[in-house]
Amino acid sequence: MKKKIYIAGCGGMLGEAFYGQYKDKYTLKCTDKDVNANWLSFLDFRDLKEYRNQVKEFAPDYLFHLGAYTDLEFCEKNPEDTYATNTISVENAVYIANELNIPLLYISTAGIFDGKKDLYDDWDVPNPLGVYARSKYIGERFVVENANRFLVCRAGWMMGAGPGKDKKFIQKLMKQLKDGKKELFIVNDKDGTPTYTHDFAKNVMLLLENEYWGLYNMVCGGQTSRYDVAVELLKILNLNDVVKLTAVSSDYFKETYFAARPPSERLLNQKLNIRNINVMRDWRIALKEYVNIYYKDYLF
Ligand SMILES: NC(=O)c1ccc[n+]([C@@H]2O[C@H](COP(=O)([O-])OP(=O)(O)OC[C@H]3O[C@@H](n4cnc5c(N)ncnc54)[C@H](OP(=O)(O)O)[C@@H]3O)[C@@H](O)[C@H]2O)c1
Repeated sequence: MKKKIYIAGCGGMLGEAFYGQYKDKYTLKCTDKDVNANWLSFLDFRDLKEYRNQVKEFAPDYLFHLGAYTDLEFCEKNPEDTYATNTISVENAVYIANELNIPLLYISTAGIFDGKKDLYDDWDVPNPLGVYARSKYIGERFVVENANRFLVCRAGWMMGAGPGKDKKFIQKLMKQLKDGKKELFIVNDKDGTPTYTHDFAKNVMLLLENEYWGLYNMVCGGQTSRYDVAVELLKILNLNDVVKLTAVSSDYFKETYFAARPPSERLLNQKLNIRNINVMRDWRIALKEYVNIYYKDYLF
């Protein structure tokens, strides 16, 4: 008999990889408030009563709570909505998982650090700078302090799902290239670690199957910067002689990206390494695979 997983907020970038990686081995119920695929059904996880009813009826072995608002500027402008979605709904998930006595997965972010250090391991103390980061960090703490059994996995700069669902850096650059831009303006003062959604989903599965409960940094190997990711992307696309990269400071985008972002949100997968269970590949290898699979015919 396959084990069952209820996945809430599964309609986004990360949900696409979880569905792909888990669907053959597990019986899934995938829900979201945006029902954008035929393997999804509706749940607004802010509704505790409905969330509890659906999970109880499905009677899963695990509860995965993936969804959140991930647009930092939207969060900055809508704090109450953000805390309802990113924080209070996580409390809902903890209640339900505990009531069913099943483990809970929650996704946290490298963005909960203030960037005063260059590199953060699993035990460094977060100091969130903006509403999004704060909403995610309080969610993280609620899980750690209250869930009976849990995995809290912190992702970095996510890449995955391609043009349809990737709302982040790679898709933003790809869109500009598709629009025929011959010069890209890239910040040179933001360091971090990309995180390929498929590697992430696989690494979560390993933790789950080994029952290594707890909190983990989970990012691709190799620390980098926004600028270096852009350089690598052009190299992979063979466009480094065609498209010019112009380095700018974050001030250049201060109207568009007004939410505070740490100068460094680089993570080290210290605990995964110690447990000898780190399958997150180097970000360059993952980026190449991502582009080759998801953007094969995108630019042409
Ligand atoms: N993207 C990153 O770079 C990144 C980095 C670190 C951690 N994370 C975390 O990883 C997780 C997945 O992020 P992602 O990148 O896959 O985000 P995403 O693409 O925006 O997907 C999140 C999904 O959650 C849904 N959702 C929002 N509110 C909901 C609600 N009340 N009920 C049900 N579903 C709801 C969203 O629907 P709508 O689109 O309709 O809002 C969306 O389909 C999040 O917890 C995020 O904080 C993301």
